Amino acid sequence: MAQRGAAQAVMATATPAGAAEPAAMGNARKVYVRTFGCQMNVYDSERMTEALSAQGYAETETLDDADLVILNTCHIREKAAEKVYSDLGRIRQVKDARAEVGSDTVVAVVGCVAQAEGAEIVRRAPTVDLVVGPQSYHRLGELIARTRAENRSLVETQFPEEEKFNHLPQRTPSRGVTAFLTVQEGCDKFCTFCVVPYTRGMEYSRAVVEVEKEARALVAGGVREVTLLGQNVNGYHGEGPDGRTYSLADLVRHLSGIEGLERLRYTTSHPRDMDDDLIAAHGNEPKLMPYLHLPFQSGADRILAAMNRKHTAAEYSALVARIRAAQPDLALSTDIIVGFPGETDAEFQATLDLYSQIGFAAAYSFKYSPRPGTPAEKMDQQVPEDVKAERLARLQKLVEQQQQAFAAGCVGRTLPVLFERPGRRSGQLIGRSPYLQSVYAEAPAEMLGRIVPVEISGFGPNSLNGVIRPE
Ligand code: 5AD
Ligand code: SF4
Repeated sequence: MAQRGAAQAVMATATPAGAAEPAAMGNARKVYVRTFGCQMNVYDSERMTEALSAQGYAETETLDDADLVILNTCHIREKAAEKVYSDLGRIRQVKDARAEVGSDTVVAVVGCVAQAEGAEIVRRAPTVDLVVGPQSYHRLGELIARTRAENRSLVETQFPEEEKFNHLPQRTPSRGVTAFLTVQEGCDKFCTFCVVPYTRGMEYSRAVVEVEKEARALVAGGVREVTLLGQNVNGYHGEGPDGRTYSLADLVRHLSGIEGLERLRYTTSHPRDMDDDLIAAHGNEPKLMPYLHLPFQSGADRILAAMNRKHTAAEYSALVARIRAAQPDLALSTDIIVGFPGETDAEFQATLDLYSQIGFAAAYSFKYSPRPGTPAEKMDQQVPEDVKAERLARLQKLVEQQQQAFAAGCVGRTLPVLFERPGRRSGQLIGRSPYLQSVYAEAPAEMLGRIVPVEISGFGPNSLNGVIRPE
């Protein structure tokens, strides 16, 4: 995550009413943020640290220094949720040690575990002072001040009436050249394995003018590539500047008009919401990158029905064929769950078959993890852990093979690369290909933030390397 210096943080002014007291100049309070889970959590952490910076908090990467510790948590799988409690054990020790030398520490658990478990977190880990769900981040400053003043733990997991985005400060510039921008939150699809409808609530789309304002602020700060985020982003239906409802394709076209914004991406999409207009945009909107993350979860129709995915394997294949007809040069990625309740060997094989048949540049694959309160948790025929592990290993081998094949196919091509940051070696920069691969090249620092042709000469497990070519 991009860091801002303490000087910038203490000089920031606007302190909303009821917010935490700004620290004295030169003596900024420090906040340590640890982010788990998806890109939306990364985005949320940035917005929270920006808001806290306006209230006198400087970001620190050292837990021991922190006056405020924020764990921004993920509830999607059990492993992610349990990590929070192991972290809290370590944080308690640091908090106790700091207390011995007279420094107090506020510990806040925010995000999806906060939303799902609420007060249970304080019961299990009394070191926690604040539990705040994803819809209440704009109240963080006020809640910190209250927990300090009242010297007791507070839990805030309501879905409030007011809209948090309207209460968070504008984006602060200079976060690097790529950025996330949440345009949609929540999900109404109710896949039977998934906690998102319970942790993030029903689908909500931000108004186009709000999104545009934020995108312009990012671009003014040097951002060249924006990834529009939503749990079900292609279900976006926000209010347009003319009062009409805008689809995601409308939004992409609208944002494409921003000068200096060179690239757009969006994630995550549901196959059912890929409409014709959005598919066409992949062919005719040059700023929309040729990369699409489109989860299919399983290749077996019986499992897809039990997951309530609302599409079959054949429908998914046909959809991909239509998208590729609009944009043949497309890197496709996906999410897959293995070992959903009742999944047989033959059904798992159908997942491997669909994966092989379609061809992907990348994939995220997971063992099914029963989540409290979801319908699948109560289904019979839960698949044993060792079977899940064996299936995951087989799938991941295939994923790796296809990823390497996709990378190999880039060798010899000249790709436009957006240089993002310095590499490990001096004189080297790291950039992004249109297909979201990291690309290493020898390049002068002035090229940071620019899109430069790079001839790809080789690849490693997770990156490409190449040589810059004259423009
Ligand atoms: N178990 C395993 N994987 C899950 N995902 C969502 N819920 C679960 C679960 N209960 C995966 C899906 C989703 C991605 C974000 O996480 O593949 O697309
Ligand atoms: Fe995890 Fe979903 Fe919450 Fe993102 S929205 S942090 S994936 S539970």
